[in-house]
Amino acid sequence: MVEAHVKVSKSLSKYTLMKFKALKNGDLLRLIKRASEKHKRISFQTKLYLCKKFYEACCHLWFVEKKVLNDLKLDNILISDCFTKLLLCDFGHATHYNMVLKTYVGTKKYRAPEINVPALPFSAANAEIPPFSAAKAEVFAFASVLFTIFFEKFPFSEMATSTDSLYKLIKAEEYEKFFAFHIASEETLV
Ligand SMILES: Nc1ncnc2c1ncn2[C@@H]1O[C@H](COP(=O)(O)OP(=O)(O)OP(=O)(O)O)[C@@H](O)[C@H]1O
Ligand SMILES: [Mg+2]
Repeated sequence: MVEAHVKVSKSLSKYTLMKFKALKNGDLLRLIKRASEKHKRISFQTKLYLCKKFYEACCHLWFVEKKVLNDLKLDNILISDCFTKLLLCDFGHATHYNMVLKTYVGTKKYRAPEINVPALPFSAANAEIPPFSAAKAEVFAFASVLFTIFFEKFPFSEMATSTDSLYKLIKAEEYEKFFAFHIASEETLV
């Protein structure tokens, strides 16, 4: 996590101002997009390194802090100045890891299927949905990030719902077909 300086003024005591050091390398989404714009492939070794560093950041959050971010995604992963660490940011929705949540969290393409209730529009941000485990949904988003680092594409076309054609193949354990369709799909992060 980025070291934060927290200041709360007396008159605004219900607000917390957190100042973070600006990191010149930005976030992982921008890193991958920049490489793709220049038609450069990120090497397999670099991808492994990024996954390892992302795993380390998550382990700290989950097992030391006992929290989940509830919005793991490439743009919430910052790169330290010397590329030695990946740092999580955007703690607006973070909770204790054993929470059972009843409202939408996360970002569409990384969201676990149990959070997607098709009857509710996405604008219904505070609407109650069936309870789900924050930790399990975090693991889904974690795996989606790993997949996206490796393939430079999101795992599913839209959301992980029963109607998504790629998700259907995973559910049916048709992995060869999944990768054949996935590799052929035009969709990129850019
Ligand atoms: N300390 C930092 N150094 C460099 N860039 C940063 C830093 N903190 C945030 N950013 C950049 O700003 C973006 C938005 O930050 P953050 O996710 O915390 O805000 P947000 O308003 O919650 O965004 P969103 O709603 O899009 O998730 C990040 O994706 C990252 O690119
Ligand atoms: Mg963010």
